Amino acid sequence: MKTIYIIGFMGTGKTTVGKLLAEKIKRPFYDTDHWIEQKTEKNIAAIFQEKGENYFRQLETIALQSLPNENAVISTGGGIILQKVNLSFMLQHGIVIYLHTSFQEIIRRLKKDSGNRPLIFKKTKEEIYYLFKSRESLYEKAHLRIKTDNRTPNEITEEIVKWLSSFVNGYPNNKKT
Ligand code: S3P
Repeated sequence: MKTIYIIGFMGTGKTTVGKLLAEKIKRPFYDTDHWIEQKTEKNIAAIFQEKGENYFRQLETIALQSLPNENAVISTGGGIILQKVNLSFMLQHGIVIYLHTSFQEIIRRLKKDSGNRPLIFKKTKEEIYYLFKSRESLYEKAHLRIKTDNRTPNEITEEIVKWLSSFVNGYPNNKKT
């Protein structure tokens, strides 16, 4: 089976759902941010601070191309879709699942945890909204969009498993909201 890539804005639960999904379908789990942190031996905030966003984006592309594109579940950083090459790679080689969360809910979640997220650290709500809006159409290119508001990670994972099991020939054949 092709690798499943989980995409979405910061705070949509990509890592939690990705891990659960990998457990359920018995596939190895990877996370691009984690891969980058391991390779560089630095946390994301330090990479942004010392080398800048562009450098981090290059590492994301290397991460995607280094991780297996078969039989795995990979959770990605929220900005992975910004590089055209990354989005094309995931759409071509894998099954791409977008975790959609309302802006209100994202803000609520990010308030609790913005420390290691340099792109939102010290940003106003308006600035984060702009970022959120500017990425929406890229996330929408995914094969599947799943709404996460008011749903537990387990419920979300179950829906993904159900959708995956409906494939004809192992490929996504419909788009669902
Ligand atoms: C980013 C999201 C982060 C991390 C980095 C940049 C983004 O990952 O990759 O801080 O540009 O949206 P999460 O989406 O896992 O928070």
